[in-house]
Amino acid sequence: MRTQVAIIGAGPAGLLLSHLLTRGGVDSVVLETRSQEYVASRIRAGILEQSSVDLLTEVGLGDRLRAEGDEHRGIYLNFAGERHHLDFVDLTGRTVWVYGQTEVQKDLVAAGTADVRYEVTEVALHDVESDKPYVTYLDADGVAQRLDAGAIAGCDGSFGPSRQAVPSEHFERVYPYSWLGILADVGPSTDELIYAWHPNGFALHSMRSPTVSRLYLQVPNGTDPASWSDERIWEELAVRLGHGQDGWKLTPGPITDKSVLPMRSYVQTPMRHGRVFLAGDAAHIVPPTGAKGLNLAIADVTLLSKALVDWLRAGDSTAADAYSDDALRRVWRCTHFSWWMTTMLHTSGDPFDAQLQLSQLRWVTSSNAGATGLAENYAGLPIGF
Ligand code: FAD
Ligand code: DHB
Repeated sequence: MRTQVAIIGAGPAGLLLSHLLTRGGVDSVVLETRSQEYVASRIRAGILEQSSVDLLTEVGLGDRLRAEGDEHRGIYLNFAGERHHLDFVDLTGRTVWVYGQTEVQKDLVAAGTADVRYEVTEVALHDVESDKPYVTYLDADGVAQRLDAGAIAGCDGSFGPSRQAVPSEHFERVYPYSWLGILADVGPSTDELIYAWHPNGFALHSMRSPTVSRLYLQVPNGTDPASWSDERIWEELAVRLGHGQDGWKLTPGPITDKSVLPMRSYVQTPMRHGRVFLAGDAAHIVPPTGAKGLNLAIADVTLLSKALVDWLRAGDSTAADAYSDDALRRVWRCTHFSWWMTTMLHTSGDPFDAQLQLSQLRWVTSSNAGATGLAENYAGLPIGF
């Protein structure tokens, strides 16, 4: 079989890239190891920055997002018994949207623009330095297949084979804490997200809809989610998020999902080798604080789709040659922002660190310059930054 772009991975990066290529007149085939149902139901990101929403709208994927998503003006920062609101609209003129990655994924599947082969195995990349690269795999029936392409897009996350096909340098930071995340069938106790610094550790109150809340607690690495009873989770969330502070109340509800996520920063450079281009988590991982992972994947494939359309349709490789450098500018900005949010809000047990964190939090909530810096990064820099 032959296609112009072989895309490995049908997460948001792979499916959106295929959608954008189709719109640009370039055909692609997407290979995915998991089933369509599994990919669609993975609970992950929840926040889209303004430029992601603008892009999805521009390419025909914004209708349900704008009808069912929830636009937020900003966030709350809670520390030292006080809650402070940062208003991104006043500070930067930009907003963020609560709209789950599961919903983005459903919209991409509903668009029907991607030709996806689910439940494939043994995906391998070949001859990526030549102008005739190809991918081999076993299809869902176990039959060996070969996919020839003009270019390969590695959108297969941090454990896929594409990263290994790119001989490169990587930069990494592993954090000494994880998140215990829950999904609960209860309406949010807040109108906008609350990021809380507390001597017991970080907590975050997020949401998915008017009836579903998503909350996180900082826990030590290696924590077994089963070691936290539902009651203990709600009690600790209440303490860290400031239940009782100025009359605010956290309303608990039935927990429907509980998991522990380790935290890591990782950047692979360059993001291209020969005819393989990496995008999304295949090229970089950020710790979740600040909600950048999905947004970065969207920004990468926006750049990559334009580069591949120019190259494969018009023979102009200028943007493809610049792709890695262009994408990495934004990747490093978001890597810094995610590291900064993470290290400002998670307690390390060191009293000196705690004083620096509180000083930093006071600065971002009292200085217009400090607040604007956070807001500009959180609400997202324009595509092309
Ligand atoms: P993925 O979504 O990982 O997709 C990669 C795909 O490749 C998968 O479907 C995988 O099955 C497939 N694959 C793997 N190996 C192979 C193979 N050998 N062959 C074929 N296919 C393969 N980001 C935000 O922006 N905001 C948030 O609020 C946020 N919250 C998060 C909360 C959690 C709990 C987690 C885990 C992540 C969160 N993120 C968030 C990060 C975000 O979910 C990821 O950055 C995003 O999923 C990246 O998309 P992707 O398509 O690059 O990778
Ligand atoms: C969510 C995750 C984040 O990492 C974040 O900073 C905000 C929200 C979420 O899953 O809703």
